[in-house]
Amino acid sequence: IVILLAAVSLPLGITTGKEYAELEWPIDILITLVWVSYALVFFGTLIKRKVSHIYVANWFYGAFILAVALLHLVNSAEIPVTLTKSYSAYAGVQDAMVQWWYGHNAVGFFLTAGFLGMMYYFIPKQVDRPIYSYRLSIVHFWALIFTYMWAGPHHLHYTALPDWAQSIGMIFSLILLAPSWGGMINGIMTLSGAWHKLREDPILKFLIVSLSFYGMSTFEGPMMSIKTVNALSHYTDWTVGHVHAGALGWVGFISMGSIYYLMPRLFGGTQMYSRRAIEVHFWVATIGVVLYIASMWIAGVMQGLMWRATNPDGTLTYAFVESVKASYPYWMVRVLGGVLYLVGMVIMLWNCMMTIRAGKAIDAVIPQTTPAHA
Ligand code: HEM
Ligand code: HEM
Repeated sequence: IVILLAAVSLPLGITTGKEYAELEWPIDILITLVWVSYALVFFGTLIKRKVSHIYVANWFYGAFILAVALLHLVNSAEIPVTLTKSYSAYAGVQDAMVQWWYGHNAVGFFLTAGFLGMMYYFIPKQVDRPIYSYRLSIVHFWALIFTYMWAGPHHLHYTALPDWAQSIGMIFSLILLAPSWGGMINGIMTLSGAWHKLREDPILKFLIVSLSFYGMSTFEGPMMSIKTVNALSHYTDWTVGHVHAGALGWVGFISMGSIYYLMPRLFGGTQMYSRRAIEVHFWVATIGVVLYIASMWIAGVMQGLMWRATNPDGTLTYAFVESVKASYPYWMVRVLGGVLYLVGMVIMLWNCMMTIRAGKAIDAVIPQTTPAHA
């Protein structure tokens, strides 16, 4: 219902105008109901658990659910005027700050924490080894959730936001590199002693390459949050490239790897219908992402340089439309990258359908636990 209402209301121009939180207040309330039900199922399951220990993947899931609830409630606080119109509870620059506190933590919790939960579960499962360092995973968890909360102002560099707040955002973004890479290293090092599996197992390729994209985007992000770098990158396609290094490379690949792990097991087997198809999907998707982000990097830096170029008399060297024209070839490369990525998804769909046809639905047996940790 929420998606249907979004599809109807947004084209009609019914929007709060807040990025990534555009839906009007009645839909916000519905989202809250959905999220509360999700939280009840998740935390209810945790309460009913038979072992005292909670594996780190579930810590990340718990943080994801709680943080997104908090973000949604605070950022969507608004005063309704009619059924389709409301005003934000905050004014001016406070509104912008709350918006980007929300926006950046949406990246950190919606597009990262839950997927890190998947990483901590599916990588050890697929490699058939325990996580590299459980201690590191706990440090990773607390450092990541603490640091993310303060990095939002890097979206508001050179705006009316006080300079000191921008600087705090920049510093916390630089610090954020450490926990992000701690998590990446923890995942990748789980392979230590079993590196050969990476050569043979296409599912593992998805999972590990997703971590490489995660490492890349969480290196790029702190660089872009440096004010002088942001002066060049902001408003350009560089940001769009960064977004999709995270979205397509990290979020997409970890999800695909996890689905390839789960799908056969849901239907009574352990192997997908076609291993070769997974391999082809992997390479098609990887080339797609690389084309997408590389073209956006080049286009972005070019746009930034063109916009800031001035003649000796101080006038601008290029009209805006010239930068649009110069971007065309790169956008064509992005189209190609996107099409390849889509082709990969179609291959995956076919493989999943064949796996489902070849298998039968089973009721998973819940393993009996011994109270070893009690
Ligand atoms: C250490 C981690 C990260 C840092 C410090 C960081 C930093 C940044 C910076 C500085 C910008 C540009 C802001 C601007 O000029 O407007 C940005 C944009 C963005 N980043 Fe990241 N990033 C990180 C990781 C990620 C990851 C892993 C993802 C995705 C999974 C992601 C998704 C986004 C999105 C969607 C935007 C665009 C927001 C918008 O303007 O609509 N980031 N990030
Ligand atoms: C083949 C797949 C995809 C293609 C071709 C694609 C393409 C695009 C394009 C053309 C834009 C607009 C960029 C602009 O303003 O110039 C965009 C924005 C965006 N996309 Fe994607 N996208 C894809 C998949 C995804 C996925 C899977 C996610 C999230 C998990 C995602 C998240 C975003 C976000 C957050 C923005 C806004 C970025 C910003 O405002 O800076 N995209 N995408």
